[in-house]
Amino acid sequence: MRKKIIAGNWKMNYTPKETKAFIDAIKDKVSGTPHEVVFCVPYVDLATALEAVKGTDIKIGAQNIHQEDKGAFTGEISADMLVEIGVTHVVIGHSERRQYFGETDLGVNAKAKKSLAKGLVPIICVGESLDQRKQGVTIDIVRLQTRIAFLDIPEGDAKKCVVAYEPIWAIGTGLTASSDQAEEACKAIRDVLGEIYGTAVSDEIRIQYGGSVTASNASELFKMPDIDGGLVGGASLKPDFEKIVNF
Ligand code: 13P
Repeated sequence: MRKKIIAGNWKMNYTPKETKAFIDAIKDKVSGTPHEVVFCVPYVDLATALEAVKGTDIKIGAQNIHQEDKGAFTGEISADMLVEIGVTHVVIGHSERRQYFGETDLGVNAKAKKSLAKGLVPIICVGESLDQRKQGVTIDIVRLQTRIAFLDIPEGDAKKCVVAYEPIWAIGTGLTASSDQAEEACKAIRDVLGEIYGTAVSDEIRIQYGGSVTASNASELFKMPDIDGGLVGGASLKPDFEKIVNF
């Protein structure tokens, strides 16, 4: 049985003060659950968030890393920096990073490998645009993105990864993939992982759905056989996140 993982991707929201206030208000309601709960917060909020969740089972994640260990990469953050302060997870290849910051499939692969080498759990994002869905290539796209993201990742590391299926047209739009659409894509991701690693491994890899998850649609999505939780944007910034975690 895969443990569900419900992660909030705060994106560029909340200052450190707001971070403390939000986590203090919600932490008792989203800790001690059967699920893994992660807040992926802006870099400057990490220390505050880590302090705020002390004594709970809530994990703290970052939203990106650089693929190199260190060096002349102005404005970037390394995996070692995150690990040293207690960060355990990192979102890799979010569609906003692909769209606005030029991240590529191979860059995502490099970042996933670096995360694993440093002991961070990568939450690897894949998903199609609205045009791609209309063109009928959704499954081809998520298969290709998944295949490239996992290039040269050995099976022992693959098991530690989380994949987030996030259809771009459902992000921040209030449009949610139906549970059948989400399941179809998540199953396709599991199938391609099965082709690479065998089903014993692909059955262990957790696959989340992301894209306008709310308290009212979470349970329908999360009960699908290949959906192991969610990567939640807007709704993870609200008190209702508690209802998503306790779906
Ligand atoms: P929303 O839940 O706001 O649609 O965002 C989803 C997302 O991008 C999570 O990474």
